[in-house]
Amino acid sequence: MALACAAAIGLLGLQGHLVEIEADVGDGLPTFTMVGLPDASVREARDRMRAAVVNSQLRWPQRRMTVNLTPATLPKHGSAFDLALAIAVLAANGDLPPPARDGPVFLGELGLDGAVRPVLGVLPAVLAAQAAGRDRVIVPAGNLAEAALVPAMSVSGVTRLADLVAHLRGEPDRLVTASAVVEPLPVPGADLRDVVGQAGGRRALEVAAAGGHHLYLHGPPGAGKTMLAERLPGILPLLPDEEALEVTAIHSVAGALPPGAPMLRRPPYESPHHTASAAAIVGGGSGLARPGAISRAHRGVLFLDEAPEFASGVLDALRQPLESGQITLHRAAGRTAYPAAFQLILAANPCPCASPSGDQACVCTSWMRRRYLSRLSGPLLDRVDLHVTLLPVTRQALLATEPAESSATVASRVRAARTAARERLAETGQTRNADIPGAALRRRWRPARSAMSGVESALDRGLLSARGMDRVLRVAWTLADLAGVTVPGPLEVDEAMGLRLRGLAA
Ligand SMILES: Nc1ncnc2c1ncn2[C@@H]1O[C@H](COP(=O)(O)OP(=O)(O)OP(=O)(O)O)[C@@H](O)[C@H]1O
Ligand SMILES: [Mg+2]
Ligand SMILES: [Zn+2]
Repeated sequence: MALACAAAIGLLGLQGHLVEIEADVGDGLPTFTMVGLPDASVREARDRMRAAVVNSQLRWPQRRMTVNLTPATLPKHGSAFDLALAIAVLAANGDLPPPARDGPVFLGELGLDGAVRPVLGVLPAVLAAQAAGRDRVIVPAGNLAEAALVPAMSVSGVTRLADLVAHLRGEPDRLVTASAVVEPLPVPGADLRDVVGQAGGRRALEVAAAGGHHLYLHGPPGAGKTMLAERLPGILPLLPDEEALEVTAIHSVAGALPPGAPMLRRPPYESPHHTASAAAIVGGGSGLARPGAISRAHRGVLFLDEAPEFASGVLDALRQPLESGQITLHRAAGRTAYPAAFQLILAANPCPCASPSGDQACVCTSWMRRRYLSRLSGPLLDRVDLHVTLLPVTRQALLATEPAESSATVASRVRAARTAARERLAETGQTRNADIPGAALRRRWRPARSAMSGVESALDRGLLSARGMDRVLRVAWTLADLAGVTVPGPLEVDEAMGLRLRGLAA
């Protein structure tokens, strides 16, 4: 056999493409040529393969070898092609029966000692193999649990190249099969029971969860801003299957899956530090752009603590994903898009000195305070529906013996409100009030005239812009859903306006 073919998957962002690897082994001086748009990391496969083959007690062909990766137009990155490359070369050299044309898809990196090492992005790769009509994949044993998340695929794990070769030569039991993974219940995170007082902050958090609204928490150090933000994922509904698969795939490409790789059911929570680079937050890196914190927060929460401390470039870069729910990254190697539909929580102290007791110990001038908060640009804050000022926790609240409400109780109200919204919005294709388009809001979902007097006078006094009004109405619908009423009344509209304007006035 001089020509053989093995299949692999190339990833561009989350998008996987079937890559056929053809190897031709012929007589002539020993050479190795690789064509079909491999990048440097793929070309290095030759050296890994040779060492892995020799250290697996197999022969490395001392012949003229040509390897072609098709389609040639698709850029190929990374080390996950190693396994398919090795199989194609060995089969072309007559050391293995050649894999069938519609045979298994091989994914994995080779170690010099012949070990098969885990790679990033196995979940989206297996999904792509399935979409390409393949029903069998062979992956590194370390990625088996992740690969097995894809239903109706035959997946096997391999720990050593020698085992895979033996398997392909017909020896039984050389591969690892996925045992039925019992998915553990998501571990409960921090509970709202621990948050003392802060009724306003708790209410805003519940409203944010129920409607998918962005939230800005403003207040002195130690008031509980971080505590509240950390508790948002715990009151959000668990992700439905399709979304869980998508979120898990992003974390797979980012190399952020927990070991054992159960499906991520809980909405993710990302809180990048303000010193993190733009690439760490929005995504990037050399070669193939990797997802950043905003994509790891997809369908979950992105918390920017001490938000004014973030570089202004980073804050500006959030605007595109806030509008479109995705981020496009441009790199020399090509353009990559990742989903980034996150719920944003911003937290800020009133001033850069961050004195814990509020105003008394503060040494900042009013100019410094204004400049500090103005780093959160208008266009960014304008996209945030809920603005809340927290005050320091009072002594009475801290000493109160009555336990606060638990996350489970709040989560059940959130679930009920989400169901009401989903049913009402069914015809629009949206599920959350935060996503209702402005036009639809004014035509189809307009509260009664009598409920709007507060909004009208705020518009007249210039306290509210047209866009601000849309945001107030979206929140008013969420408040109606939480209250179990079918349409927002004056109570809901006025509370929604308070939730938008209170923090702005502060
Ligand atoms: N409302 C609260 N209930 C219970 N504990 C609280 C509350 N607020 C603050 N604490 C205590 O203070 C600590 C700091 O709270 P947290 O980090 O949430 O404050 P913060 O507002 O984020 O402050 P900073 O601006 O310094 O980040 C918490 O770990 C907790 O022990
Ligand atoms: Mg904090
Ligand atoms: Zn100060």
